[in-house]
Amino acid sequence: MSTEVKQYPVTEDAAARAHVDAERYARMYAASIDDPEAFWREQGQRVDWIKPYSRVKDTTFGPGEVSIKWFEDGTLNVSANCIDRHLATRGEQTAIIWEPDEPGEDALHITYRELHAATCRMANILADMGVAKGDRVVIYMPMIPEAAYAMLACARIGAIHSVVFAGFSPDALGARVSGCDAKVVITADSAPRGGRKTPLKVNTDKAFKHCKDSVKSLVVRRTGDDIPWDDARDVDYNEAVKTASDSFEPVEVGAEDPLFILYTSGSTGQPKGVVHTSGGYLVYAAMTHRFTFDYHDGDVYWCSADVGWVTGHSYIVYGPLANGATTLMFEGVPTYPDAGRFWEVCAKHSVTQFYTAPTAIRALMGQGDQWVEKHDLSSLRLLGTVGEPINPEAWNWYHRVVGGGRCPIVDTWWQTETGGHLITPLPGATTLKPGSATKPFFGVQPVVLEPQTGEEITTAEAEGVLCIKDSWPGQMRTVWGDHERFVKTYFSDYAGYYFSGDGCRRDADGDYWITGRVDDVLNVSGHRMGTAEVESALVAHEKVAEAAVVGYPHDIKGQGIYCYVTLMNGVEPSEELRQELRQFVRTEIGPIASPDLIQWAPGLPKTRSGKIMRRILRKIAEDDFGALGDTSTLADPSVVDDLIENRMNRK
Ligand code: WTA
Repeated sequence: MSTEVKQYPVTEDAAARAHVDAERYARMYAASIDDPEAFWREQGQRVDWIKPYSRVKDTTFGPGEVSIKWFEDGTLNVSANCIDRHLATRGEQTAIIWEPDEPGEDALHITYRELHAATCRMANILADMGVAKGDRVVIYMPMIPEAAYAMLACARIGAIHSVVFAGFSPDALGARVSGCDAKVVITADSAPRGGRKTPLKVNTDKAFKHCKDSVKSLVVRRTGDDIPWDDARDVDYNEAVKTASDSFEPVEVGAEDPLFILYTSGSTGQPKGVVHTSGGYLVYAAMTHRFTFDYHDGDVYWCSADVGWVTGHSYIVYGPLANGATTLMFEGVPTYPDAGRFWEVCAKHSVTQFYTAPTAIRALMGQGDQWVEKHDLSSLRLLGTVGEPINPEAWNWYHRVVGGGRCPIVDTWWQTETGGHLITPLPGATTLKPGSATKPFFGVQPVVLEPQTGEEITTAEAEGVLCIKDSWPGQMRTVWGDHERFVKTYFSDYAGYYFSGDGCRRDADGDYWITGRVDDVLNVSGHRMGTAEVESALVAHEKVAEAAVVGYPHDIKGQGIYCYVTLMNGVEPSEELRQELRQFVRTEIGPIASPDLIQWAPGLPKTRSGKIMRRILRKIAEDDFGALGDTSTLADPSVVDDLIENRMNRK
């Protein structure tokens, strides 16, 4: 395989400036595996500790107990690491460049000194609202600087934030507020995006119907829209900030005190609250940000993700700011006002590193090269991708048209659970192959297991499920309130390993190719979604008796959402009902979960014991029903014929 694949060796330019060249990568990687304790003892110094750690690594993946602790007896404050420690040397340097949704509105340049003052004011306001160390705060915000202030203010207090993507529905928000028993929700009047507005405050009010009466909200005025107001519960940020003090002493927290909860989808049930702690997470976010993107002083780094996802946590806020970087925050979307927006912003702010999702690349590629060529992209030095496999065609376009053939592309494989990159090229060290995430980061030991037996495949070339053998500091520690679910989800299918849920192939050069999820998790436009979540939204509709949801290949989104719906007796299928169901799912979960295809299914293929055979449904959705395999165990094989005949995705 590797002989057919075009390879891109490290460029002279990247090698000359990189923190890590091939020789250093090999040496450091070996050291990180041979003696993790010594390796991480040294790397832990990337962070300023209040009380230094004496213990470094105390982790076990079971069997039996699973417990992950790093730098356990050290204490620190994450916001002081992201702000205060830079003030003496780079107080006047821009920490955050903010680019608004409307290109006509002024961008903001926020210095580290200004970031300090703003974070302290927000911390004081939250403290006045009763937020203290260990309390939970939900952040439901547009991509505005106040979202970063809010995260850092929580960290400063030692409170635990849970950011909820602004595209989630009131129901999803309410479930997350209650799920972690939050004291305060920080939100805004509305979130402008792509010229449209999401009414965040109205949504928050609706979400509160599912929450305790004592939950308060802190509301940032972004658009100035008229919003409903309840003096007993709502605090006006723009008023409070006028009198809030701009100093707030950072609270000392333990390395293993939680920094944040972030809900993410799994193969079963409702989303789970992934818990990341303070010390190890910050060390890992800072280190990966520095090495993967080869960040240097003076660079302007832009990650186009949203702070509602883990990418925004690690690579817009915590990693870059811990490194004293200039990080760009973009409120808008790639195609507004036109398909040149990303490139216009790169040119306008002289961006040096640009990090985005394959789905955006595919969508923009389809609009034509002229949108890129209009803009001067000579400042770009490195490109990155995250969130889903990138097809070589999109990789090549990104490399040639956006990167002018000179910028290495780092295809970073990682997950909400991993806190930071686990498999990724390093620009000064790694030969690139379009579509491969290539090599493990320091301290990371990927293994490929035979799916059925769980045996480790030790030959160079291998294909199977991707697991990780030992812990790294950025790893999640538990599921909020449900440690058992943590153990069951990640450590029980393949005892003694962290199970990623992804399949992969390793080639003869030791490069990893992620082949996608092996469980019932969808990846739609780089957004993770459980089929079970969409199914339970569908069956909540009064006209739906049963539903089964699978993914199918989609040119732009990577995967689309394909729903098989059985209606209640006597309900007639119609195009209107299809629209109604689509809208219903959007209301229940959010627009990202909107079904692409809905097929009316008089029956679903089930085994005699009543289990839905998803394998068959996946094949039909893929329009690949020639090889359905054994259907003899079905209770009623004839339902399959009907599903094939009425399939929605015909190539
Ligand atoms: C997928 C996003 C291929 C994968 C940081 C993983 C990828 C899931 C890549 C995690 C990549 C992420 N190549 N697939 N470079 N990066 N994935 O939690 O299936 O939103 O398990 O984290 O995205 O999604 P999550």
